[in-house]
Amino acid sequence: MKYLNLLGALPALLLGCAAALAQQSPAPTGQQLFEPIASVVMGPRCLNCHQVQAPHQKDIGIEHAQMVMRGQHDSGVATLQCAACHQAGNSADGKVPGAPHWKMAPVSMAWQSLSKVLICQSMKDPSKNGNRKTMDEVIEHMKTDPLVLWAWNPGAGRTTPVMSHEEFVQKLQAWAAAGGPCPGDPVKPAAK
Ligand code: HEC
Ligand code: HEC
Repeated sequence: MKYLNLLGALPALLLGCAAALAQQSPAPTGQQLFEPIASVVMGPRCLNCHQVQAPHQKDIGIEHAQMVMRGQHDSGVATLQCAACHQAGNSADGKVPGAPHWKMAPVSMAWQSLSKVLICQSMKDPSKNGNRKTMDEVIEHMKTDPLVLWAWNPGAGRTTPVMSHEEFVQKLQAWAAAGGPCPGDPVKPAAK
């Protein structure tokens, strides 16, 4: 009999535990929120354009062939513009990648060899990120820009980011909703 009573009480007990756990579960940290974003941003499709001097190629990020250089406006030197080869879409065989306005990211957005924390901070820094001031502005580009979207349709068997673009946007929104904390930032108490 005693045994049966105990069993009867079990669901209530479990529910109680779950509620207690939910109450205590701390707000996600910058580390937890930014990690999935970093795993996309630090992939070769993104980093190959977010370089200092010249774009990179392939998954291992070797320097671009044909001595392609950034040039004054991030779109190549006068004699060798990106647009000479890169069109508004991938070439038919996919070998030459393409998307509208194909060019390198500005120097201030060169993430090559930056740590996760530094990438996170510079993404939010208006002096580096193209004067984007709010978290909504910071993530908008990654939600809609054709150069970003290209990474999910890169052609010629190139690897794609580690999660779908839809999932990436969800991670960006969760990060922005928490105010865009970076790894190591103090955790704000969860809003009640
Ligand atoms: C073909 C080159 C190219 C590729 C590929 C590319 N970018 Fe960019 N990126 C740019 C250019 C050019 C800009 C500047 C445009 C602007 O500021 O509006 C930029 C700007 C950005 C910015 C805004 C700057 C900031 O610090 O907030 C973010 C964020 C960004 N890119 C993320 C990505 C991500 C994520 C990927 C990969 C999924 C990616 N980019 C792939 C060229 C590229
Ligand atoms: C002479 C033609 C040519 C010019 C000019 C050129 N590219 Fe490329 N680019 C290519 C070809 C071809 C590939 C594909 C290489 C491969 O994957 O084997 C490529 C690949 C790339 C990639 C690698 C994409 C990836 O992640 O795999 C980036 C980034 C890139 N180019 C950026 C640029 C930028 C920015 C410019 C101008 C500053 C430029 N390219 C100028 C022909 C060119």
